[in-house]
Amino acid sequence: MPQDDDDLRTSFDAAASALTFNAPLGEPRAADLLDRLAPSAADARALDLGCGSGELLLRVCDRHGLAGDGVDQQEKDLDRARLRAADLGVADRVSFHAADATTWDRPADLVLNVGAAHIWDGADAALAALHRVTRPGGTLLFGDGIYEREPDAACREIFGDMPDLAGTARAATAAGFRVLHAATSTTGEWDDFESDWRAGIERVATPGARELADRRREEYLGVYRGVVGFAWLVLTPA
Ligand SMILES: C[S@@+](CC[C@H](N)C(=O)[O-])C[C@H]1O[C@@H](n2cnc3c(N)ncnc32)[C@H](O)[C@@H]1O
Repeated sequence: MPQDDDDLRTSFDAAASALTFNAPLGEPRAADLLDRLAPSAADARALDLGCGSGELLLRVCDRHGLAGDGVDQQEKDLDRARLRAADLGVADRVSFHAADATTWDRPADLVLNVGAAHIWDGADAALAALHRVTRPGGTLLFGDGIYEREPDAACREIFGDMPDLAGTARAATAAGFRVLHAATSTTGEWDDFESDWRAGIERVATPGARELADRRREEYLGVYRGVVGFAWLVLTPA
């Protein structure tokens, strides 16, 4: 059953609302990343471009006592982020801005960009733009899709060209970063991410929403599980 734009938007909003992170990120890795992103100066400032509902930025700022900014175009996600900031007691030092992240030009010491390289149309341009807003001596957490294995035609049809982990690390060095940490999400993190995403859509329960959830499950389990991966790179300007 075809979905109109409103139905699709409702389904995608519902999918996102069921997620803590809109990326294949489990709690153990989130905790590990918080350790790795400890800033060297107490007055460091954090920035998340394409922050969504801001969970990772908020945890980083909460854990390390930082001030920060989250930037996204989706008002609903930002509303959720502001509520969570209030819950954590960091609303006085973490601000959320409804803006096009490509227009943001204030550098920060700790920059996050997770699942949002498409803002600049891909990893190469994203890494160049993120280098411009990462202060010397600072840190960038870059999370982006990769191929773990050679994709078949059906997979390439959905995801197009993507690098592997080595290619993403090379793109980071070409953009002027040193690679401090490189890892990929586990299949378990992906399984949970995909299931949680579909669980949000299941709650919409319209025929169109169910069709979208079924199609995504078929594509994940039949086409891209174990083939599409997600790279986590902790980078510092060279
Ligand atoms: C897959 S989500 C990732 C969200 C978040 N980083 C996370 O990991 O939970 C990608 C986000 O990029 C945002 N986005 C896309 N284009 C944007 C733009 N030009 N400026 C700001 N945000 C944008 C979307 O609204 C969405 O919240």
